[in-house]
Amino acid sequence: MHSINLVVAADQNHGIGINNDLPWNIPIDLKYFNDLTKSQLLEPNQKNKIHDKRLMNACIMGRNTWESIPSKFRPLKGRYNIIVTRNKTNLKDIPTLYKDTTVVESMEDAIHHIQRINTTPSESIMIRNVFVVGGSSIYQMALDLPHHLVRVFITRIENNSVKKCDVFFPALISKHGKFVRQSYEKLQSLCEFPVPKGVIEQEDGIKFEFQLYERE
Ligand SMILES: NC(=O)c1ccc[n+]([C@@H]2O[C@H](COP(=O)([O-])OP(=O)(O)OC[C@H]3O[C@@H](n4cnc5c(N)ncnc54)[C@H](OP(=O)(O)O)[C@@H]3O)[C@@H](O)[C@H]2O)c1
Repeated sequence: MHSINLVVAADQNHGIGINNDLPWNIPIDLKYFNDLTKSQLLEPNQKNKIHDKRLMNACIMGRNTWESIPSKFRPLKGRYNIIVTRNKTNLKDIPTLYKDTTVVESMEDAIHHIQRINTTPSESIMIRNVFVVGGSSIYQMALDLPHHLVRVFITRIENNSVKKCDVFFPALISKHGKFVRQSYEKLQSLCEFPVPKGVIEQEDGIKFEFQLYERE
């Protein structure tokens, strides 16, 4: 595994959600989320050597985030969905009900699960990139991973949300190193799809920008 990638949209006050839903409707950001989490990050030295397996990215999420995804979009299609809960028994039916979906009891379990898939010859899939997609405490656990490369793909929303958020993105601080903003060119060079540049304004006045941070 080459990197751990966090994907988040956060407002000026670091708000990310309200009533287990998103506080805003930003179609361009939803498309960006889908493009990013489905595509291959163009990382140096990464080669797909295994041709007889389905290559997929993994999305790791907390149980609330899983439940916040509208049922027709759940599981996130074309991605391996990993749901983190403290009580697997409550979610024991999920892997049977949904293809390419599993339930784990910690972030470490999620990483081990991915490593096991990637080192088991009889597995039909191979996990390519790993995206942590929320919510709050799951992001915090990912920021604290002693992994050599933790990246944050943040959609920085410049407005205060009209709705007052009740869930927040943690401070971009890690005991393993400082997070530094990277250039737009670096962000675009990682993505195999065109990333809109600069601040975008929607008709409803919401302004946002796609940004990349990496741990030093
Ligand atoms: N703006 C964005 O980019 C974005 C992205 C994702 C989500 N969101 C929003 O964020 C909200 C959901 O996030 P959230 O922070 O409330 O919840 P969450 O992180 O998605 O899920 C919380 C649940 O995860 C499990 N969990 C948390 N820490 C754990 C640990 N250390 N070990 C094992 N399991 C653990 C627990 O599940 P159990 O209770 O089952 O034990 C906990 O109740 C929604 O409003 C959603 O729309 C926004």
